[in-house]
Amino acid sequence: MREFLLMADDSIVAVLPYALGIAARLGVADVCARDGSTTEELAAAVGFAAQPLMSLMNTLAGAGFFTRDRQGRFSPTELGAVLKADSVVSMRATLSNMDTYQAWLRAADAAAEMRPIAAASGEAFFEDKETRPKAEVAFSTRMQERAMRLYAGLAELPVWKGASTVLDIGGGTGTVLSAVLQAQPQLSGVLFDRGTVIDLAARACLLDPVRDRCTLVAGSFFKELPADADVHLLCSVLHDWDDERATDILRASARALAPCGRILVCELIVPATSEPHPARWSDLGMLVLLGGRERTLSEFDRLFGAAGLVRDRLLPVGESGFSLIEAVPSEQVPRSAW
Ligand SMILES: C[S@@+](CC[C@H](N)C(=O)[O-])C[C@H]1O[C@@H](n2cnc3c(N)ncnc32)[C@H](O)[C@@H]1O
Repeated sequence: MREFLLMADDSIVAVLPYALGIAARLGVADVCARDGSTTEELAAAVGFAAQPLMSLMNTLAGAGFFTRDRQGRFSPTELGAVLKADSVVSMRATLSNMDTYQAWLRAADAAAEMRPIAAASGEAFFEDKETRPKAEVAFSTRMQERAMRLYAGLAELPVWKGASTVLDIGGGTGTVLSAVLQAQPQLSGVLFDRGTVIDLAARACLLDPVRDRCTLVAGSFFKELPADADVHLLCSVLHDWDDERATDILRASARALAPCGRILVCELIVPATSEPHPARWSDLGMLVLLGGRERTLSEFDRLFGAAGLVRDRLLPVGESGFSLIEAVPSEQVPRSAW
């Protein structure tokens, strides 16, 4: 951070995120991953002018995303694998996501004019996708991409024992549900999301390996959820919404939950102390993008209380900084008290 500030002048400040965004859009890392490519070969393969491409590749090589050999051939480094579409650590859809860049430009303008920086609400953000099919696909692809990286290990946590049906609320196109059902063969699952996302999920092959144990249901979590599942999963859903809307979602979940059921909330938790944590970056990001927020554990407790729930166990999810918070109806004895 210090090095960046020391070298930054007005032409440099935005270089890294935009250079990564352009490289991701052009797909240069996929092309040169095979045997390495010169800028001329890259230019021919991606249909872009060689001179600016040379500048882009040299910049990203300097930042550690590519190596350049004596013949001028670029190859992605381990870090550069985030730019490749077929990598398990791929962030290609995420980095080429112009919605977020545009939201930040609007926020910066708003702040300069002393207007609130959260221009969009959760409703506006998702309704907009319903009228723009390409944006809906791009958003779902970004969600798939991050789910693979951020929830690794979730499907193997000891929270599924004794359960029979999991309802993945706002489960996107099914990345998480598929992983859970594959790791837990005793479970059946219901994927619940908006109609346009469920249509995409039906066409995607993510749930194919578990199709005989899985149903897809379209609807709104502000209205009614499918009844009788004994585990409800809410991954990165509450952080899209302000406290009032997040409480509405938890109330709908509590109403639909089977007796003795539990709700699993997978989110980043903002530490109560001042140590660095990805939740702090995400908190600002969610505010700017759609008026959402990350929360401390006591803020989650307040939401649970308002929805007639009480917090039970808390487990880390892999090493991504995400946590799984288990909540149960307040009249039920928490497992942690067994
Ligand atoms: C941030 S994404 C999280 C997706 C998935 N749970 C994950 O973590 O990969 C939020 C999800 O909530 C869904 N969603 C938004 N509003 C909804 C509503 N009113 N009813 C049902 N799902 C909704 C979105 O379509 C999206 O799939």
